[in-house]
Amino acid sequence: MESLGGRVIAIAGAGGNLGPTVVGRLASSGARLALGGRDKSPLDALAEDLGIEADTAAVDLLDADSARRWVEGIVERHGRMDALVHLVGGWRGGKPIEEAPLEDWDFLHGLLIRTVQHATQAFAPHLMTNGRGRFVIVSSSQAQAPTHTNAAYAAAKAGAEAWTLALADRFRGSGATANVIVIGTIVTPAMRDESPEKDFSSFTSAEEIAEAVAYLCSDAAASMNGQRITLRGGA
Ligand SMILES: NC(=O)c1ccc[n+]([C@@H]2O[C@H](COP(=O)([O-])OP(=O)(O)OC[C@H]3O[C@@H](n4cnc5c(N)ncnc54)[C@H](OP(=O)(O)O)[C@@H]3O)[C@@H](O)[C@H]2O)c1
Repeated sequence: MESLGGRVIAIAGAGGNLGPTVVGRLASSGARLALGGRDKSPLDALAEDLGIEADTAAVDLLDADSARRWVEGIVERHGRMDALVHLVGGWRGGKPIEEAPLEDWDFLHGLLIRTVQHATQAFAPHLMTNGRGRFVIVSSSQAQAPTHTNAAYAAAKAGAEAWTLALADRFRGSGATANVIVIGTIVTPAMRDESPEKDFSSFTSAEEIAEAVAYLCSDAAASMNGQRITLRGGA
């Protein structure tokens, strides 16, 4: 396991389904973690559960100023910023495309694209001067193979992917990288514990995603920039 010791890694949306596994994985490699979500208390509880020290903060990535204050606070407290892992998520959909409420698009555009844009504009200046900055988002196979009941979700994820690949282009020559991890539905350790009889073989395991995040944050992935890494082996 490659050491991430000395790196300061910010995880946005750390308190969600995937967050705890990614937090545990990066902490076990020695990274100093800054956890962000709209509420601070679940993030403090997560750090306590995992028995780790973490810099937790309430941040709303729908608000550009909140995103900027978050990164500035981290840099002030830790003296550096090495990576932003964007795990902000949520879903709307399920209706046939001709009936899909377009309010779902407005919601998902904010949640899945605007939060990536605000994260980019707050973090990119720090990541570009860092020499080995990292920016990682987690997308869905729906972006390239949409089902019609997921049209708004798939279009939003496709937008977030294109934005991130454009950021990778901006990073060229700076030593920073931006990459996209493409997954199916996540299965977490908690989900397996709750439904031991269920067949999760077509899901993407949280542990495998966490490994990919750790790899992308490491020196081993220094020349991997602007890539879509697909973890859909079981499906
Ligand atoms: N779950 C899946 O099966 C699946 C499939 C494909 C891709 N993905 C992607 O994988 C990533 C992780 O998924 P997940 O299921 O762990 O996500 P999630 O649990 O749905 O959301 C993660 C966290 O995002 C935070 N959040 C929501 N709005 C926010 C905002 N405006 N500012 C800051 N934080 C905000 C929420 O925390 P607070 O409410 O505390 O703010 C939530 O805990 C996401 O990008 C998701 O789109 C997930």
